[in-house]
Amino acid sequence: MAQVVRKAVIPAAGLGTRFLPVTKAVPKEMLPVVDKPAIQYVVEEAVAAGIDDVLLVSSPYKKPVEDHFDRAFELERRLEDKGKHADAAGVRALAEIAQVASVRQGEPLGLGHAVSLARRHVGDEPFAVLLPDDIMVDGGELLRGMLAAYGETGRSVVALKEFPMSEISSYGCAAAEPHAGNLVRVTQLVEKPKPEDAPSNLAVMGRYVFAPAIFGDLAEVRPGHGGEIQLTDAMATLMAREGMFGYVFSEGRYDIGQKQDFLRATVELALEHPDLGPEFRQFLVDLAKRHLGL
Ligand code: UTP
Repeated sequence: MAQVVRKAVIPAAGLGTRFLPVTKAVPKEMLPVVDKPAIQYVVEEAVAAGIDDVLLVSSPYKKPVEDHFDRAFELERRLEDKGKHADAAGVRALAEIAQVASVRQGEPLGLGHAVSLARRHVGDEPFAVLLPDDIMVDGGELLRGMLAAYGETGRSVVALKEFPMSEISSYGCAAAEPHAGNLVRVTQLVEKPKPEDAPSNLAVMGRYVFAPAIFGDLAEVRPGHGGEIQLTDAMATLMAREGMFGYVFSEGRYDIGQKQDFLRATVELALEHPDLGPEFRQFLVDLAKRHLGL
């Protein structure tokens, strides 16, 4: 029986260059998606999947991300003084949503390096990695499925999604053989292949469940493209040694590190919002009539 996964690591120390100039001074994880910063969706997803120990890999530029899950005593007291008890409770609840700790990546030396910094916190246990560029609006279903797959197989599990071949060069790509249900056995991993070299149309998405042995493999990775330590290199070693599964999914993902998908997330999630949705829907209908002649 595989060990239960209790910890999640959220690497959030990247520079966010695809979202400049916003990200010059504002961490992309703090961009609001409707009425919550993106990072909150990711921590809530981990909690929904049953994980309550979260390690943020932060950087000197990402202090607001750490602060979002800390107490804000002054703010809470002022809200209480004004009788805004529900707002005060909401602010306080963010500090209690999970056990959120952080470690700093002093230099952006790559995703693999960021994950390796979690070694001391995680120890000799399996753990989940959630990239906060990807927000999943699925109530934790994908991550729960991946945790269950780890429990059944005792092998690391990576989230995979089908993409058109023309887009595959933006992602890590996995060759895989069918296993059972949405689980496939990963046989090859290639980082950002040209479409003609890609072994499949399955792209690696920002959700992983790793056996603790990944830390040893990360320690052996030499800097690759741009001097970065690539997570994919360590995953390829781990896969070759002890095997790895892919969990194929299709719904619920937004890449909010990318401007176009960020806009899609904002509109679709605003439409689903219980308070804001109905009025926003009417606004969109009117807008479409006025500007698009629909
Ligand atoms: P990306 O490759 O998307 O890089 O990182 P980025 O810097 O965040 O964004 P762009 O591409 O320049 O716009 C994937 C994930 O790995 C984290 C990022 O924060 C993101 O969650 N990361 C990346 C680190 O934590 N440290 C790094 O050195 C690199």
